[in-house]
Amino acid sequence: MRLLSACLATILAVSVETKYIVPGGRWRDTDGNFINAHGAGITFDQKSGRFWWFGEHKTEEEPEGGGVSVYSSEDLATWKSGGLALAPIEGHPYIAPGGVIQRPKVAYSAETEDYHMWWHADNSTYGLLLQGHAVSSKIEGPYTFVDATAPLGNWSQDFGLFTDYKDGRSYALYSNGDSRDGRDVYLTSMNSNLTALDKVVHRFPKFDLEAPTIMQTEKSYWALMSHKTGYRPNNVVAFRADSLSGPWSQPFIVAPLNMRTFNSQSGFTLRIEGTKKTTHLYIGDQWDSNSVWDSRYIWLPVRTDESKKTLELEWHDVYDLNVNTGEWKPIKGKTYSAKQAKTHGDTYKQEANFATDGVILTGIYGNDSTVTFENVEGSGKPQWVSFYYQNTDDLGFGDQRKYTSIA
Ligand code: GLA
Repeated sequence: MRLLSACLATILAVSVETKYIVPGGRWRDTDGNFINAHGAGITFDQKSGRFWWFGEHKTEEEPEGGGVSVYSSEDLATWKSGGLALAPIEGHPYIAPGGVIQRPKVAYSAETEDYHMWWHADNSTYGLLLQGHAVSSKIEGPYTFVDATAPLGNWSQDFGLFTDYKDGRSYALYSNGDSRDGRDVYLTSMNSNLTALDKVVHRFPKFDLEAPTIMQTEKSYWALMSHKTGYRPNNVVAFRADSLSGPWSQPFIVAPLNMRTFNSQSGFTLRIEGTKKTTHLYIGDQWDSNSVWDSRYIWLPVRTDESKKTLELEWHDVYDLNVNTGEWKPIKGKTYSAKQAKTHGDTYKQEANFATDGVILTGIYGNDSTVTFENVEGSGKPQWVSFYYQNTDDLGFGDQRKYTSIA
C-alpha cells in the first residue's frame, strides 16, 4: 500500500470528463460551484431514485450556522445543487446565523410520509448541546423547524442517524459533548415516525469519541467514530457487534496508524446495494482548521472481513463507482516518487520507512523551498494529478484534544 507522506506525486492519465470520485479533490456541482456540504449525511430516496447529500453550508463570513445545503445525484459523482434545505433565521434561538447547525441527517417516515431532518443544534459556545428537528414533505425541502431538544434529557453534540436496512428502524447516535462527564457516545432508537427518540440501546462508555456513524453488513454492525481533536484529523476507530445493543468489540483503527485516517474525520457511511455487490463508502471530512469553509471531502470504499472481524478504509486517488451494480475500481496512474524529485531551498529528503521508496520530502516552508518533479509526461488530454502529502507538524498532537485536558 502507498501511504500518504510529505510529498509524492501521482500523475493519472485519465480524462477529467469521466465521472470519478477523487477523495480530497475540489468537487464542483453541475453549476461549476464548489460543493459546500460539510459534516454530511446522504439519503437514498426511493421516490426520486436519487441520492441526496445534506451538509453544513460554510462560508468565510459564516463558518457556522449557515444552514443546511442539499445536492442530489444519480451516480454519486455528478451533483446538482438544491440550495439551502434548511435556511438560518435571524434571531432564532436555535437556527440563527453564527450558531451551530452541524452534521444534518435526513430520513423518510413512511408513516407520516414526511422527510425528517435531525442535526446538532447549539449556540456558538456549545452551551446547549441539543438535537434539532425539521420536517418537509419533499426531500429537497425547504424544511420547517420543529424543535431543538435534549435527547431523553441528555447532552448531544455530534449527531449521526442510522437506519437498519433489515427492519427499517432508525437510530440516533450522538456524542455527549466536551465536558469531563461527556465522554460517552449514545445509540438511541427513534420512534417509528422519526419525530422523537425512544430508548437508549447502547452507550459507548468513556472512550471520549465523536463524529459517530454506523455501517451495517450482512452479519455485523460497525460503529465508526473519531477522537475529539476539533477540526483536525485523527485516527478514526471502529467497534463491531452482532447486535446494536452489543456486546461491542474493543475499538480499532480503520486506516494505517498516524495517517490520521488519510487526513479526515468520520461522520457518515453510505450503503450502496448494487445488482452485483454491496459497497460501503466512508464519507469523511478533510477539515482545514484554518479555513474551515474550504474543507474537502474524503470518500473511500470500506473493506470488511466478517470472519476476521476487521474493517479498513482503502485509499485510492481516483476510483470509478457504478451505483447500479455496486462495483468500483481504482483508476491507475503513473507514480513519480519523492526519491527522484529535485529539492530547492530548505526542502530536504528524510528517511521514512512508511513512504514509497523509504523517503519523504519535508522542510517545505515559505516561497523559496520547492520540489520539482521532472520528466512528467502528459497524455495530451486533461488529466488528474494527485499529490500525497501530510503535514508532519501535525504528527505530534496524536489523538489528544488541543486545548482541554480532562481529569
Ligand atoms: C469536531 C466536531 C465537528 C465540529 C468541530 C468544532 O470536529 O466533530 O462537528 O463541532 O469539532 O471544533
